[in-house]
Amino acid sequence: MEKKNLDWENMGFSYMQTDKRYVANYKDGKWDDGALTDDANIVMNECAGVLQYAQTVFEGLKAYTTEDGHIVTFRPDLNASRMVDSAKRLEMPPFPEDRFVDAVEQVVKANAAYVPPYGSGATLYIRPYMFGINPVIGVKPADEYQFRIFTTPVGPYFKGGAKPITICVSDFDRAAPHGTGHIKAGLNYAMSLHAIVTAHANGFDENMYLDSATRTKVEETGGANFIFVTKDNKIVTPHSNTILPSITRRSIMYVAEHYLGLEVEERDVYFDEVKDFAECGLCGTAAVISPVGKIVNHGEEICMPSGMEKMGPTTQKLYDTLTGIQMGHIEAPEGWIKVIE
Ligand code: PLP
Ligand code: COI
Repeated sequence: MEKKNLDWENMGFSYMQTDKRYVANYKDGKWDDGALTDDANIVMNECAGVLQYAQTVFEGLKAYTTEDGHIVTFRPDLNASRMVDSAKRLEMPPFPEDRFVDAVEQVVKANAAYVPPYGSGATLYIRPYMFGINPVIGVKPADEYQFRIFTTPVGPYFKGGAKPITICVSDFDRAAPHGTGHIKAGLNYAMSLHAIVTAHANGFDENMYLDSATRTKVEETGGANFIFVTKDNKIVTPHSNTILPSITRRSIMYVAEHYLGLEVEERDVYFDEVKDFAECGLCGTAAVISPVGKIVNHGEEICMPSGMEKMGPTTQKLYDTLTGIQMGHIEAPEGWIKVIE
């Protein structure tokens, strides 16, 4: 298979249409067989549930080219099961987990020419999503749904790649207690748009959201979980029922403990203790591990000791181990890597 002639090294995190996508439809209480299609457009009724009441959930994962030339994905089974949780919370029919993983494989294979080469710094981002498609005018769940997966080659989420970013403590809340912060619903992102536009307008790369009940605890950003490194080299990550259970974060915590022999803690992280950490990073599929150099809270700056030039040493070790596993030059724990071809 010949790769597309793309500028792999200089890609941003943006949408590029690729050749094939997967579509399955839910009607009369069941999912159809699903198939790949060339058509990137969706035609739906003006009153579709997704358009009126935002009944949509999604996932994000990546395909990587390994050092020895295989195309692999990273823990797609966890995306499949998280999407089931998301769907249930929005009263949508879950897409079967085995079919999710199979559909990911089909779409990646069909777009293999767009999977960036090993060492380019780019990856193929895979976006599964589903939405209510039949007309809904009273507030209730749709009866018909569409599940789709498209792919797009991407570079780093934050411009500058591994360069530390500056974030601000948001005055807006991301998720309510007992709300939908723990699922990957489009509505969580729609309501974060004003906050991110405001942060960018004020010169910040991202928002740090605090828990909306007490505004004392660190939650996450608009698209990634937090990890912190203590001065005595422990890895700390916020525990909260209102953040997305990041697959990257869960993997990093495992890698920290079992590959690097570090102590790990998932617990409440109070904003007041952030000034005492040695390193801070954002972790997620898109973000990978993006170092945070500075956190600003209404003009008050917390400068991480790791500085604004490069990742802190422990963040770097976590990054190297995680991406080493994903790119195939470090042995993965059982079941983490799914070889596509
Ligand atoms: N938190 C939010 C709000 C996200 O959108 C994402 C991205 O998926 C993450 C965390 C990271 O999750 P994961 O590592 O599973 O991609
Ligand atoms: C991902 O990391 O896959 C996400 O969905 C986050 C989003 C901000 C791009």
